[in-house]
Amino acid sequence: MTHIAPSILSADFGRLADEVRAVTASGADWIHVDVMDGHFVPPITIGPVVVTAIRAATHLPLDVHLMIEHPERQVSEFVRAGATGVTVHVEACGDVSAALAGIRHAGARAGLALNPPTPLDAVRAFVAEIDLLLVMSVNPGWGGQPLVAGSMEKLAGARSLRTSSGTTFLIEVDGGIKPGNAGAAISAGADVLVAGSAIFESHDYAATIRALRG
Ligand code: DX5
Ligand code: ZN
Repeated sequence: MTHIAPSILSADFGRLADEVRAVTASGADWIHVDVMDGHFVPPITIGPVVVTAIRAATHLPLDVHLMIEHPERQVSEFVRAGATGVTVHVEACGDVSAALAGIRHAGARAGLALNPPTPLDAVRAFVAEIDLLLVMSVNPGWGGQPLVAGSMEKLAGARSLRTSSGTTFLIEVDGGIKPGNAGAAISAGADVLVAGSAIFESHDYAATIRALRG
């Protein structure tokens, strides 16, 4: 069963709690929270204080995507703030295993993300340590970008990696997902679809979430 995770990056931040309540009422499965530090990616977005505010606005799992350097220093604070899962980038961790262990130790689901130019080989060594693999289908930093070519093949590669390693991690895709390509992403292997602009720039969140289920 496919999970739909609206990314609040494209929400109206002046009405953030209302926006979170609206997608919750519209059938979302998770809330995706994009944390950016101005170093790993150029923009700066939000920190744990805002995660606490989102936690109070929904009962849904909070899927916190850390686009920050040295995430191992921050993971426990995000879990304390209410994250259900925390995803770190393989490109951003000095010690990937320590970061993943830190997430699980704090009591959350451990996710590992990779950017479009990063090969799946970079995450192969960690598949037994993760609950979720996040395949970035755009270069991170901004919502509303088109899906990078080769993303569907990478999802299929992630599914093969899961099968060949005998592991059970969820496969999540993030960036450029719209109703028109969601079905292809699901067929290629995605279990969780992140969608920011597709949902928050639509007039009917519930209809868009239904359309994304393929
Ligand atoms: C990009 C973020 C995404 C982004 C997706 O750096 O990680 O979660 O919000 O936005 P859309 O769905 O508009 O591509
Ligand atoms: Zn994201």
